[in-house]
Amino acid sequence: MTALTPRSSTANPAPTTTADPADAAARPGDEGRERIQKVLARAGFGSRRACEVLIAAGRVTVDGAPAVLGDRANPDHQRLAVDGVPVITRSGLVYYLLNKPPRVVTTASDPEGRPTVVELVPQDPRVFPVGRLDYETEGLLVLTNDGDLAELLTHPRHGVPKTYLAEVAGPVEPGAIRALRDGVELEDGRTAPARAHVVQSGADRSAIELTIHEGRNRQVRRMCAAVGLPVRRLVRTHLGALHDSRLAPGAWRTLGPSEVRALYAVALGTGPGRAEPSH
Ligand code: URA
Repeated sequence: MTALTPRSSTANPAPTTTADPADAAARPGDEGRERIQKVLARAGFGSRRACEVLIAAGRVTVDGAPAVLGDRANPDHQRLAVDGVPVITRSGLVYYLLNKPPRVVTTASDPEGRPTVVELVPQDPRVFPVGRLDYETEGLLVLTNDGDLAELLTHPRHGVPKTYLAEVAGPVEPGAIRALRDGVELEDGRTAPARAHVVQSGADRSAIELTIHEGRNRQVRRMCAAVGLPVRRLVRTHLGALHDSRLAPGAWRTLGPSEVRALYAVALGTGPGRAEPSH
């Protein structure tokens, strides 16, 4: 099974919206509004000049209306989008990527007093986990205070792909992989087509990589058990196109603007990582 190798955790400061005297209050009613290219550049879309090109090409909207060069927007109150994908401009939003270790619960507080994922990331501002990994499951988990992104990523309608590496007992028969790909009957219904392949096969244990678009409770463990492959260890390696093999178990880092955009894009069906399952 692939090991997630150590890396120190680094906390980048939350995005800020420092006012530039040249942009602030240029006209009556412009308080808090800034040139759109400046907002986009701060959000990671390249230089202001590059952002002007995006605006001129008609790829930028403000509250759903196409923007033109010279427009201003209030990054805290208006919604900007590039190619239909929301741009994160609001201040105070934080996005952490945690490599969840085993034996940690994916909740804000646990009545049984077990360690929780929120205790592993900064406490202020308060964040919540996006989706859920089982107590024993390891791997990538996003924590944020952005409710919009959390809703998009977890809503079954959006079918965000999640990839897992499962260490299973025994050898893997081709029929088991075919069944995982085609869908297996579980007590809460048949699973949707998935991507599955054998990473390593041995007489005592094997490793399978599985990409699912659903988020049912203990789904991967139940799918593998249903095809006769009890899971010994489960690691989530990808969330959409998001991946980090260098984050040590228990470590976290701040997601960069382009990674947050990619998460929005995959949830909205406009970005990479949204590929349909293939055999
Ligand atoms: N599937 C599982 O079985 N467990 C998880 O934690 C995530 C997906």
